[in-house]
Amino acid sequence: LKNIDPLHAILWTLRRNEKDVIHLYDTLSTMMELSTGARMLNFGYWKGNVLSPEEAQSQLCSSVGVTAELDTAQIIVDVGSGYGAPASQWERQYTHPLIVCVNTNSNHLTAGKNHIYHIQDYAVSDNAIRNYCKISFINSSSMALPFSNSSVDRVISLESAQHFKPFAVFISESARILSNNGLLVIAMPVTIGLRNSFESLIRLGILNFTWASEHYSLNHVLTTIEQEKFTIIDITMIGPDVYEPLAKYYFKNRQVLRNKILTEYPSYVERILFKSLLKMQNVSRKGIVDYVIIKARRY
Ligand SMILES: C[S@@+](CC[C@H](N)C(=O)[O-])C[C@H]1O[C@@H](n2cnc3c(N)ncnc32)[C@H](O)[C@@H]1O
Repeated sequence: LKNIDPLHAILWTLRRNEKDVIHLYDTLSTMMELSTGARMLNFGYWKGNVLSPEEAQSQLCSSVGVTAELDTAQIIVDVGSGYGAPASQWERQYTHPLIVCVNTNSNHLTAGKNHIYHIQDYAVSDNAIRNYCKISFINSSSMALPFSNSSVDRVISLESAQHFKPFAVFISESARILSNNGLLVIAMPVTIGLRNSFESLIRLGILNFTWASEHYSLNHVLTTIEQEKFTIIDITMIGPDVYEPLAKYYFKNRQVLRNKILTEYPSYVERILFKSLLKMQNVSRKGIVDYVIIKARRY
């Protein structure tokens, strides 16, 4: 069983600096994988007849790809790339682009790299090196994107910008590295209408601790983007197709998923997850928490 020191966990959750976020993912990524049975680390987009977290994640990834117009992209920077599973999907769906996965968590990058090396096609084909080289991995932060000015044409952040602190630095870094007319696409959880920290504390309840990221408001996200050289061209709110269906899936399959989680974690961790999903469902229904896909063009 994973040994979680509660004091450390509380500190990581409350302080949330880059190192804390790395520790959090090193501790909890396995639980995300066990409860979804998939390699992406996002909630997924459950619109239509979606039956599993894996399908929902793939749909979210596809929607982000379409929004980001990846069919015409040359160099995509995926900031907060997780295990590189979204990059793998885009690489299969689109033939041209070079995808650069940027992540603070080196374990995520290593796992992603190993996985891609082991995909049969890469190992056996003559195009192995060329195909492999279409995805590369860089251990860096959203706060200092290691690219020169105007050198890429897409920046994507798929359910990772909720960790970027300060958010404004990520946006100015994105504006700096994007060429003219380049696209920034962000998919992330946001809060709506919470006027101050006291109201957040009361209304988010347990999520103040278990939703272990910043709780940026939609308004803050949009105004920060508009303060840089970006024109927002699309805002799609998908919260009702994210939180509630995911929670329902978990509740319906709780027994099986719980047993899987208990192979790696003490039972109180699963209980906290269950309570957090209940609360997520509740705040989503009330419209306090939503999920946004934003598309902005650099001018
Ligand atoms: C919820 S996961 C999403 C991963 C991936 N986009 C996916 O959908 O599978 C968030 C990712 O962001 C990374 N991350 C968190 N803070 C970061 C930062 N400041 N800079 C770069 N990556 C960061 C985490 O290590 C993690 O891999």
